[in-house]
Amino acid sequence: MDHKKIGSLFIVLGLSSLFLGLFFGSIGGLQYLLPPFLKEQLAFQKTRPLHVYLVINWIFTSAVGCIYYFLPTVAGRKLYSIKLSLVQFSLQVLIFLIVVIFFFAGKFSGREYLEFPPWITLIILFSWILFMINFFKTIPFKFNDVPVYIWSWSTGLIFFFITMTEAHLWLLPYFNNNIIRDLTVQWKALGSMVGSWNMLVYGTSMFVMEAITGDKKVCRSKTSFFFYFLGLTNLMFNWGHHTYIVPSSPIVKEVSYIISMTELLILGKILYNFRKSYVDAKLKYHHLPFRLLSFSDGWVFLNLVLAILISIPAINLYTHGTHITVAHAMGATIGINTMLLLGSIFFILDEMNESLMEKLKKYFGFSIVLLNISLVIFWLSLIASGIAKSIGMQQNNLFAVIMDNLQPYFKVFTASGIVVMLALFMILIPVLKTFSKDILLKEK
Ligand code: HEM
Repeated sequence: MDHKKIGSLFIVLGLSSLFLGLFFGSIGGLQYLLPPFLKEQLAFQKTRPLHVYLVINWIFTSAVGCIYYFLPTVAGRKLYSIKLSLVQFSLQVLIFLIVVIFFFAGKFSGREYLEFPPWITLIILFSWILFMINFFKTIPFKFNDVPVYIWSWSTGLIFFFITMTEAHLWLLPYFNNNIIRDLTVQWKALGSMVGSWNMLVYGTSMFVMEAITGDKKVCRSKTSFFFYFLGLTNLMFNWGHHTYIVPSSPIVKEVSYIISMTELLILGKILYNFRKSYVDAKLKYHHLPFRLLSFSDGWVFLNLVLAILISIPAINLYTHGTHITVAHAMGATIGINTMLLLGSIFFILDEMNESLMEKLKKYFGFSIVLLNISLVIFWLSLIASGIAKSIGMQQNNLFAVIMDNLQPYFKVFTASGIVVMLALFMILIPVLKTFSKDILLKEK
């Protein structure tokens, strides 16, 4: 067994998690329209955490898979320990099963986004330590001449460990006895955790962009490192916009608002440069990864516009607690994170089975376009319902009246959400099949 097979195992786990997560997301969408739907068996209180856990798990797990797949090539030597990575993989499967079973059973003893019982965190942290040992023992410790994605991955790895620990400080009386301290630390941890998975995903995409264009200078340039440090500043300080409702120091929020805007600019610029060098070089190969990375550039732009608007305090006052926040979260995790990860996965597929990719080029091209069109409608419907809710609240309408008025937007949201799910299924099914076949083939 080699590192590529290990990477594929994680990617298959990530893809399966996304598969299930999409399914629960769509049930959640249907429950917006018909609240009694599956109320006894699987109420919204269960489908939402199941959906959110599974889709975030997709992001982390497939980013880990891509790192395992690419790391030895980047490091120029073998993976430190296949055994450690297999133990890590087994633990991740175990965590996945326990969390899903607990959520199904309605056992939620954690905090928002991490609703599983806190003792599971110990297994998560332990499996992450194994990953860190494997990663840092594989890369050569010459940090002065390494490409920016090594820095990006290293930072993501360390900060995930820190923020996951920090997100459980509420278990200590010093934090949970003081609501302001408690909320601030909680949102700070979660905000920076998003930064940590962004570092893993962006690092992976930067490696893929370098591999596609063959230009080794870009990821070692001063500009790339400038943007990396800007990203790191974001990871550490942009969480303040999550604590808007907490009566803590206003300067923290103001500084973090300004900083959080720069993050998307960074990514937009990197992707733009990549697109330009690809087009300038008239490259023809790796067409699908290029398309996916280009679409994510468009999503960076859309999310940047939305983020700038909702970060203006006068606007935030009205948008807070509406579906505009959900649009912001899903726009970024689907449009940017998922699109970038699929780009990296297609790059691997190109290497794994070029003839199949050539055969399915049109089919995948169509699914990717369908995904993006339905995603735009999905995203706009959430924004429109947020605006309608905000107007209803300003008019002091009854909650029931407001919800009634939102029904047309929810219909569009659910219908387009189902198309998003189907388009992703169209992409995921052949991808899952190819990865699974490859794992079994290599095993023989
Ligand atoms: C790659 C695909 C997806 C990702 C990464 C994703 C991600 C997320 C995230 C991060 C949240 C939490 C938002 C928040 O707390 O503000 C969320 C909520 C939600 N998502 Fe998705 N999502 C995906 C696809 C879908 C699809 C296809 C549907 C179908 C309708 C859907 C329906 C929902 C619903 C109903 C919620 C709950 C919103 C609420 O709390 O009112 N998602 N999703």
